[in-house]
Amino acid sequence: MISLNNKHILLGVSGSIAAYKSAELVRRLKDAGADVRVALTKGGAEFITPLTFQALSGNPVHTNLLDTEAEAAMGHIALARWADAILVAPASANFIARLAQGRADDLLGAICLATDSTIAIAPAMNQQMWANTATQENLQQLRQRGILQFGPGEGDQACGETGPGRMLEANQLAAHTANIFETGLLSGRTVLLIAGPTQEAIDPVRYLSNHSSGKMGYAIAQAAAEAGAKVILISGPTALATPPRVERINVRSAQQMFDTVMQHVANSDIFISTAAVADYRPINIAQQKIKKTKDTLTLELQRNPDILAAVAALKNAPFTVGFAAETESLEQHAQEKLERKGVDMIAANLVGEGIAFEADENALLVLTAENKQQLATASKFMLGRQLINIIAKQHHI
Ligand code: C5P
Repeated sequence: MISLNNKHILLGVSGSIAAYKSAELVRRLKDAGADVRVALTKGGAEFITPLTFQALSGNPVHTNLLDTEAEAAMGHIALARWADAILVAPASANFIARLAQGRADDLLGAICLATDSTIAIAPAMNQQMWANTATQENLQQLRQRGILQFGPGEGDQACGETGPGRMLEANQLAAHTANIFETGLLSGRTVLLIAGPTQEAIDPVRYLSNHSSGKMGYAIAQAAAEAGAKVILISGPTALATPPRVERINVRSAQQMFDTVMQHVANSDIFISTAAVADYRPINIAQQKIKKTKDTLTLELQRNPDILAAVAALKNAPFTVGFAAETESLEQHAQEKLERKGVDMIAANLVGEGIAFEADENALLVLTAENKQQLATASKFMLGRQLINIIAKQHHI
């Protein structure tokens, strides 16, 4: 089963008779778990209507660059940022030429220029147009720029000729698109992750906890699995679905999280600590529900173990990555944490009203002893992949 779980795929459709297959492609991408938006060129709209794509994708279809209303809703820059990958299928000979020239005179061209996500094209054209030196030179330029090319296949063509230039089938294109995210950067490695909040019992019905949603940790777990790692996710209580190919162990308290980490850490190559572990827990857990008989109530708390610091201090410690959620002086606090906890890397982010904890987006400052890198505001899934790429690079040094 291919997976595009939580992926934003922008499907560009340009003018070719193969556009009829793009309707099926939207279905296949969605079946794999993707959220799909379609950008239709003027030529594409001659072959298939926006309504078809709107009905299949469940999203409005994007057609115009210079339409103030459309730009205000979700303009070319927003779409370029939204996309985890852009797949242009079909990519006509004309669109390929325009992409090679870097033209931004229509919406799809502008999106392709404005994105830093992977772009893939699925060429579709008459076999003579395909064989033409102009087309082949354009394709070579695109490949040199890192643009992926899926197909074309060979066989009977709508024009009655036979040869190369047929767009690949929808299921093949969906599988190739899923492969964009399967980097293999961590294949053969085991990644141990802690995520979410912890709950520290006060009595049988109450606990101390925090606002952590677990989204950042789960996104990193997914990215690690896509990078080919075996992933063990030790999670506090969250409302999130377990990402595909991730082994999840549920815990509640910091102490349980600590014990479970210690059971698994010896076999891990990388430890990533995204959990918002409660620093303190009540010393005494009341056996029965505490009654509101007094005007004030004092809870006596004791420190929880610091899981990250304990892992970093192990004799054969894995590559350790901690998080620092700060309300101010981000870099200074993160630097101090890197040294005090003896970890290999710290990913720091600002938290506060409406930032980070329950949000779908975040921004990270990634510090190691040698360097620092700022990852701009993006979806937590995008940041998860960027962070896994950095960790993979560092880990192999
Ligand atoms: O010291 P502070 O809580 O700010 O450090 C944050 C980092 O330490 C995070 O990576 C968090 O997961 C980890 N941590 C931990 N155990 C604790 C407290 C924090 O592993 N008891």
